[in-house]
Amino acid sequence: MSAHAAPTAAAAEELFTTLTGHAPEGLWSAPGRVNLIGEHTDYNDGFVLPFAIPHRTVAAVGRRDDDRIRVASTFADEPVEVALDDLHRLFPTPAGEAPRVAEWAAYPLGVAWALREAGVTGSGVDIALASDVPVGAGLSSSAAIEGATASALNDLWGAGLDRVALARIGRTAENDAVGAPTGIMDQMASMLGEPDSAIFLDCRSLDAVPVPVGIVEAGLAVLVIDTRVAHAHSTGGYRERRASCERGARMLGATSLRDVSVDDLGRAESILDDVTFRRVRHVVTENQRVLDTVRTLREQGARAIGGLLVASHASMRDDFEISVPELDTAVDAALSAGAIGARMTGGGFGGAAIALIDRDAVGAVTDAVHAAFAASGFSPPVMFTVTPSEGPRRDA
Ligand code: GLA
Repeated sequence: MSAHAAPTAAAAEELFTTLTGHAPEGLWSAPGRVNLIGEHTDYNDGFVLPFAIPHRTVAAVGRRDDDRIRVASTFADEPVEVALDDLHRLFPTPAGEAPRVAEWAAYPLGVAWALREAGVTGSGVDIALASDVPVGAGLSSSAAIEGATASALNDLWGAGLDRVALARIGRTAENDAVGAPTGIMDQMASMLGEPDSAIFLDCRSLDAVPVPVGIVEAGLAVLVIDTRVAHAHSTGGYRERRASCERGARMLGATSLRDVSVDDLGRAESILDDVTFRRVRHVVTENQRVLDTVRTLREQGARAIGGLLVASHASMRDDFEISVPELDTAVDAALSAGAIGARMTGGGFGGAAIALIDRDAVGAVTDAVHAAFAASGFSPPVMFTVTPSEGPRRDA
């Protein structure tokens, strides 16, 4: 077990034992992720390049001798318990409404429900969750919960589903149980994580290719700058951006924005209103930037992708309009302090930025970002470095 997961595993195991009075049958864990590039492209059938991070959610799980499911977590006060046969009374959550259970519980219960909807059944279970993936930071703490729960139930219920199928189960939980209209990037990144590689994912075919990033070999580090500005994707801006993309595709006669290329943007500008055009331009150019980043990583290495990261951030700030002042400050301060590239990562409206920097510059960039936040009167950000890490595993 990696040093990173050990305290989290101990916390999950202890919570399980306190809850049930006996030891769990096993511990399953799954990671959060950062996205190197390719934002808001996944639900447009496009390309993304995320990698799993060392931070993980651990599920301590044991079967019960009845048909009830109970979930508890170190990040909530009260466990939630329900009969497995009653899950379909809770879900799906009607579009735009809050789940009928506490939101955190909708992730693991939603996974159990989605598995049952897919024809997988099994006995009742107790599930105790602990996590060191920061919540609300845009690092997919939710995909980590889904991945750990889905991996545990896959084993204990003898489902034998592969990792792509489990990613789909996680996405169903996110979309239909939690009610967040997200794409499949986060679940695929968590499920397919590999040390030293990012996952080049075609969100239409779900073909996934590991792309070695060579960050360590190049003497670089990826610094996460968590602004602590909380975001939620079940409401508001995320849903509205997705609707704009779908409207834009429809007006251009395309099945999805995946089928619109950079060469089509002139025609798109003459057809679409200004706001819809800029939403479309972000997605179309971002897909191209993912392809360019993969090629650049392969041909020239990580030091050469900085300009693509910076262009991605500008597109999200100016065309897609999902950045916030704290994210822009983080990116600008990191670049001024010598970062090779920087951009917000994840859905936006808060959360985290990433900066690609020389390993020797971690201290200087961290200081510069802290100083810039203080000068703007923002609360201090939380910063740490990450390296591409493995996907789900059984820890005990
Ligand atoms: C969130 C969603 C993903 C993706 C990103 C933006 O993380 O969960 O599906 O849309 O935002 O790229």
